[in-house]
Amino acid sequence: MYENTLEFARRLDGDDPLSACRDLFSIPNTADGSPWIYLCGNSLGLQPKSARNAINSVLDDWAEKGVEGYFSGSQPWVDFADRLKPSLAGLVGADPLEVTLMNTLTVNLNLLLVSFYRPTQERFKIIIEEHTFPSDQYAIRQQIAFHGFDPSDALVVLTARDGEESLRHEDILETIEREGTSTALVMMGGLNYYTGQLFDMSTITEKAHEQGCVVGFDLAHAVGNVPLSLHEWNPDFAVWCHYKYVNGGPAAPGGAFVHSRHARSFDLPRFSGWWGHNRDTRFKWVDDFEPEQGAAGWQMTNAPVLSTAAVKASLDIFDEVGMEAIRAKSEKLTGYLRYLLSEIGGGFEIMTPDSAQEHGAQLSLRVGSENGRGVFDFLKANNVICDWRNPNCIRASPAPLYNSFEDVYRFAGIFTRALQKKQGSGTAV
Ligand SMILES: Cc1ncc(COP(=O)(O)O)c(C=O)c1O
Repeated sequence: MYENTLEFARRLDGDDPLSACRDLFSIPNTADGSPWIYLCGNSLGLQPKSARNAINSVLDDWAEKGVEGYFSGSQPWVDFADRLKPSLAGLVGADPLEVTLMNTLTVNLNLLLVSFYRPTQERFKIIIEEHTFPSDQYAIRQQIAFHGFDPSDALVVLTARDGEESLRHEDILETIEREGTSTALVMMGGLNYYTGQLFDMSTITEKAHEQGCVVGFDLAHAVGNVPLSLHEWNPDFAVWCHYKYVNGGPAAPGGAFVHSRHARSFDLPRFSGWWGHNRDTRFKWVDDFEPEQGAAGWQMTNAPVLSTAAVKASLDIFDEVGMEAIRAKSEKLTGYLRYLLSEIGGGFEIMTPDSAQEHGAQLSLRVGSENGRGVFDFLKANNVICDWRNPNCIRASPAPLYNSFEDVYRFAGIFTRALQKKQGSGTAV
């Protein structure tokens, strides 16, 4: 179905209903003025051209109105972030009540662990997956210790079978069943940052709930990458960032989901601040904290309007294009990448599962630990931006909104040469 030629890649681009979206983004150029082959949306998504105007319009309001900008003008800052909720809810498959834009990911994870990790002597464990992102590990381990437990007893790590890269779904369920009665929380990446494996969040949640566990997901690598139905899948909470596939800009404000069944759980312990207070009395300066309903009740601090404006510019694109069309192209684009890589033959392995249900845009490529870094340096010297994860993993992620099939074709050619060069020195050829 695919062909390993430039003409074929260009034909796919010609038939691509999303090809015009590339023009909505600034594609960085190399020193000679040609565009990078940018396959790094798993790390930092590219800038929507509309972000500049979105930020400038906030700057203009600030210049012209000063503090009055909070309550006047076409986009008052007091509820600027709240107005993004319908788009955000659409992106993660939730009700607007269930989502909020706030802080950044690790902060949100810690805040929600305060409410949703409530260990007892009998039930204190947290199930995580192998290759949990280090920041999550630090947060989770510290929370365990904060409650007086020992992370080495309390952490249950799901691991792949010997000789395998990704987790087997049946093994995940089996572990939840085995450890369930002593487990307080199942806390997984919806799509693992390292292997690129997408998990069946619905079934995992169902199994964990059967065992009486709370369920949370880190969706940093899933949001804007794959369609999500959080309300229906039913986890208790989720957190994510907007700077990867959502293209909201470096350190853009993050997102959080709290299922509607907790919307009025005002007795849950939580850390609080004025922005999470009931909006009707927020400015009446009462001393007692009264949480806002829904995810908004976990906000602490007023949202950073300038950086939220960039997220809004990006969410407008998602609203316009739709996650279904984005995913349809993504499957084709990453499918083409996988096909081209399969034509190479050897010298590396694809760690990411084969089945489209088990991955998003990213393919993780295990290159030899000895010359792997040389392969990566060679890619970079030849105008390819992807990323490197120790000890031997190159992550390549064609993002359907701005990557072309030609990008993927060119990447595969340069990767082939990098492998052939074995001791890749990073010299451009
Ligand atoms: C899976 C995952 N979790 C957590 C983080 C940390 O994000 P932040 O610095 O926004 O807290 C990242 C950052 O890339 C990530 O990929």
